Amino acid sequence: MPKWLRDAVFYEIYPQSFMDSNGDGIGDFDGIIEKLDYIKELGCNAIWMNPCYDSPFQDAGYDVRDYKKTAARYGSNEDLIRLFGEVHKRGMHILLDLVPGHTSEEHEWFKESSKTESNEYSERYIWTDGWLSAPSGLNYVAGETPRNGVYVLNFFKCQPALNYGFLNPTESWQKGIDDPACIATREAIKDIIRFWLDAGCDGFRVDMADSLVKKDDEKKSGTSMVWKDIRKMLDESYPEAALVSEWNMPHFAIPAGFHMDFFLDWTGNGYNLLLRNMENGRNNSFFKKDSDRSILDFFDEYLEKYEKIKTQGSYSLITGNHDTTRVSHFLDERELKLAYAFLFTMPGNPFIYYGDEIGMRYLELPSKEGGYTRTGSRTPMQWDNTVNHGFSKADAKDLYLPVDTAEDAPTVAGQQKESDSILNTVKAVLAIRNSHDEFKDNANLELVYAKNDERAFAYRRGSLLMLCNPSDDEAVISSGAINTNGEKVYEIGNTACHENGYTLGAQSFGIYKL
Ligand code: NOJ
Repeated sequence: MPKWLRDAVFYEIYPQSFMDSNGDGIGDFDGIIEKLDYIKELGCNAIWMNPCYDSPFQDAGYDVRDYKKTAARYGSNEDLIRLFGEVHKRGMHILLDLVPGHTSEEHEWFKESSKTESNEYSERYIWTDGWLSAPSGLNYVAGETPRNGVYVLNFFKCQPALNYGFLNPTESWQKGIDDPACIATREAIKDIIRFWLDAGCDGFRVDMADSLVKKDDEKKSGTSMVWKDIRKMLDESYPEAALVSEWNMPHFAIPAGFHMDFFLDWTGNGYNLLLRNMENGRNNSFFKKDSDRSILDFFDEYLEKYEKIKTQGSYSLITGNHDTTRVSHFLDERELKLAYAFLFTMPGNPFIYYGDEIGMRYLELPSKEGGYTRTGSRTPMQWDNTVNHGFSKADAKDLYLPVDTAEDAPTVAGQQKESDSILNTVKAVLAIRNSHDEFKDNANLELVYAKNDERAFAYRRGSLLMLCNPSDDEAVISSGAINTNGEKVYEIGNTACHENGYTLGAQSFGIYKL
């Protein structure tokens, strides 16, 4: 595990919408450089940037046309390398987004692969051996290429799946994972990894990391084999490079060679229940003050996975990402503060999605670049109250996406001035996280108090005790259940430690040193 990951707190940047330095209406690398000090002051020392490569942008850049060239709208390769340098100058790190499962249909490899004449790239994608054969259980496209065959998709129609083979090939056109064509795909991805690590990036968030080997890889042994092979190269040549998976199966991802996996937002799962849980039209997210959920709805699922990997890697909690509905759509200001205090004091490296630190809102917008309902979570960052909230000097009509024009739209500048703002709460909690070693030990979580029919709960990280009461009623956790010699380090709302236990005021969160 790279040493720097131990205390890394990540900030996710959707480059389109973070900061436009040249007034063309879309964010860019130089804009990010301008805001690095802001990210650092917030308490984040690492960045994950969504794809910034050449692309037709039918899926916001997750449809890569050239892995080794940046999209001109963000700047040149040299500009990106300058960004790496500026990040490092500040003692920070940056992950690029690696998309190994598919390319754009406009990628040169795919154009070559679509040709009737056999060539180096003929088997780089998954093709059947005739135009009438349908690959069962997989999405595919027929009727669009000169080649006699249909090709398998990994996600959208614009994203043909790269060929890493099949775990148990049953058809003549299916390759085994050690077929030379599949090894060539793997080597091509390793080459891209080396290219950007050599250029100065610090690792990758890996898109759909579980999607490489096709049927019947339910236990992921095939896909894991590919990642172990990549891990070997990283261990040998790039031991400080971080690898983070979009997988949500840490017990597969960590042994396969990732340092970190995300607890992703899947409807009804433990993470979803915390922040975005709708039940028959009712918002019953755990952090809503009137929810009837218990924190065990989260912990039962989380702990099972956490316990399996806690000494080898991390299972990270996010405020949201470019695929989720902004968390402020479900939680009000006070609820957000409690939720963030919880997320940032749990094990694993926290990830803050740009704008969540001020409670930026979800906007109802038509789909942009394949965003669909995700588009509303991808709007320009709201820096201040100048034109376009300080995001860009372009005409409003030329912006990548519209800014939030609500009178009371939150901004960084506005919240910096209010001591009790979401922004300052995020800063305060991160400052505590960053200054206590207990939060850097990934394996020390102990759930000390949680009941199925109660809302308040408490957990420990070494000598630090966290207590939370998300409900509107005062709660008491009595001394029998918990250590009561705590000294208050931080609180939201009112909390008190006394010989009978802890009294937690309505919607409160406390950190105590034992
Ligand atoms: C997951 C990414 O987070 C999402 O934005 C993208 O659309 C799909 N993978 C396909 O690459």
